[in-house]
Parts: sequence; structure tokens; C-alpha cells
Amino acid sequence: MSNKKENLDNLQKKLGEVLGLERAAQKAVEELVALKLLKSESKDQAKEIQKEASSHEEKIQEVVSLFAEDEEVKLNASKVEESAKETEKKATKIMKTYLGENPDTSEALEFLCLAEGGEVSHYEVLQTICENFDNKKALTTIKSILKEEQKHLSECIDMAKAAVA
Ligand SMILES: [Fe+2]
Repeated sequence: MSNKKENLDNLQKKLGEVLGLERAAQKAVEELVALKLLKSESKDQAKEIQKEASSHEEKIQEVVSLFAEDEEVKLNASKVEESAKETEKKATKIMKTYLGENPDTSEALEFLCLAEGGEVSHYEVLQTICENFDNKKALTTIKSILKEEQKHLSECIDMAKAAVA
């Protein structure tokens, strides 16, 4: 069990982390397309995922505002942003390391699986953190994003499988 200050620290950190992951995910798709690693169908699907990542980013920004305006919570939006920047940097580094010198399509798709898996687990944890606060709107938003992330993950797994079938 966490106390009030820990709950707020956890919330700020985790909201930043999902924001950073959403930003990194959009850049990752852009880069994999530019490297011509995603072809035809998987390219279209990845672009759809990218669009949804952009909408998730906006929705999480709204959640940040909700908690910042909430007198009971008084979330510090710049702490969230700090955490977002750090996470985006880390995620970009992980992608570079994972893809290495000569990435192929399978590696590109498996990296997307890794990224989506990371998003799923972060939103799961964020949902649990959010349950410590009395904000139905925020919780509903997080739950709906989590559902879409689960869908993204299974889509990416399917794409990775299709590439080697
Ligand atoms: Fe996603």
C-alpha cells in the first residue's frame, strides 16, 4: 500500500512513461517505413497503429490536465514531461540497439512487438495507480487505451508471424 505522496509520484512518473512510449512509437513507425522495412499490408497496419498512438498521446495529455486541475491531486505537469522525455530517449536507444546495423523485416516487426508489449505493461500498471485516485474519467480513458494497446500487440505478433509464414 502506498501513501498519498507516493501515489502522486507514481502517477506522474507513469503518465510520463506512457507519453514517452507513445511518442517513441510514432517515431519508430516513421523510421521503419523510411528504412523500407515494412511492406504493403504491415506498412498500412503500422501506420494505423501510429495514428492511434498519436490519439493516445492526446488523450493522456488530457488525463494530465484533469489531474493537474484537480485540487485534491495537484499533479505537477512538468514532472510528467520530465519523465516523458527520459522515457522517449531510452526507447529510442533501445530501438537502435535492437535493430543493429542491418535490420530486416522480421527484426523490425519484432521490435514493434517489443514496443507494444512495453506499452501494454505500462498501461496495466498505470491503471492500477489510477485506481488510487477518485477520477472516473481518467480511469475510463486509461482502460480504453489499454484495450487498444492489447489489440496493437496482437496485431504486431500476427504481422511478425505472417512475415515468416
Ligand atoms: Fe500502441
